[in-house]
Amino acid sequence: MWNIGSVSIKNRIAAAPLAGISNPVYRSMCHAYGAGLVVSEMISDKALHYENKKTKEMCATVPDEHPCALQLFGSDPVTMAEASAYLTEHTDCDIIDINMGCPVTKVIKAHSGSWLLQHPDIAYDVVKAVKDNTNRPVTVKMRAGWDMQHINCAEFAVLMQEAGADAIAVHGRTKSQMYNGTSNNEYIRMVKEAVTVPVIGNGDIHTVEDARRMFEETGCDAVMIGRDCWADRTSCSSSAAQWKAKSLRNRRMKNVWTWCLTMPRSSARIRGNMSACA
Ligand SMILES: Cc1cc2nc3c(=O)[nH]c(=O)nc-3n(C[C@H](O)[C@H](O)[C@H](O)COP(=O)(O)O)c2cc1C
Repeated sequence: MWNIGSVSIKNRIAAAPLAGISNPVYRSMCHAYGAGLVVSEMISDKALHYENKKTKEMCATVPDEHPCALQLFGSDPVTMAEASAYLTEHTDCDIIDINMGCPVTKVIKAHSGSWLLQHPDIAYDVVKAVKDNTNRPVTVKMRAGWDMQHINCAEFAVLMQEAGADAIAVHGRTKSQMYNGTSNNEYIRMVKEAVTVPVIGNGDIHTVEDARRMFEETGCDAVMIGRDCWADRTSCSSSAAQWKAKSLRNRRMKNVWTWCLTMPRSSARIRGNMSACA
């Protein structure tokens, strides 16, 4: 058991947000298969401001997915504050997460996602605005930096903590890498050493051995699994069980995710989102 703010989390495995995939059904299945924490796909602050019906539907939660985080993206402190108040008043999410890692062009053009890594002052104001308008813990999901020449994850994370973030999730790639190359645990370790709030390590976890290495190399408080959860529905259950048993070594994660994901995975909608985001 560990905590993000006042929220208790039963194990140290989180299911990462995946746009077009992390809906309430997927999230509750992630819980059923062992994730201690689940995060929604990203929700636009501007779309909530304009009362977009589909976006409001994305804020729905179901009883068996708690604790869950709803993830906002945006960079305008005014509409992010509004969105935070909206989620607090109209949903029973346990945590509000802020996307500061998405590298997709349309999100960057909207000055959101990893665009904020280059604009730490605005990111600070965004976290503060969200925090000031909710009684729920607030988390930030970020990348290592914009590119190899601008690795600012440690100082950025410290600033987010000062703004009020209750935990930081770090994907060990830069924005420029998109999903290419490999995720570097060293950047996650740098963040863990820099902040006092819990750090969730993310990137390229496909096996229990990968999860074990992430814990050992970074000292992170929890690991977050994205693409492997989607492709292999047992990722969280086997990791959680192994973590609990403290024997993460040399165990291949079993394939458990398939049944819940076979259907959405094969749909054009999911494939469209995959190519848009990956
Ligand atoms: C199809 C797809 C959709 C994603 N959508 C989101 C999202 O909505 N919010 C977010 O913060 N990250 C998003 N990500 C990034 C993942 O949460 C995660 O950080 C990344 O895939 C690295 O973790 P992994 O190697 O375990 O997949 C997305 C990634 C993919 C592949």
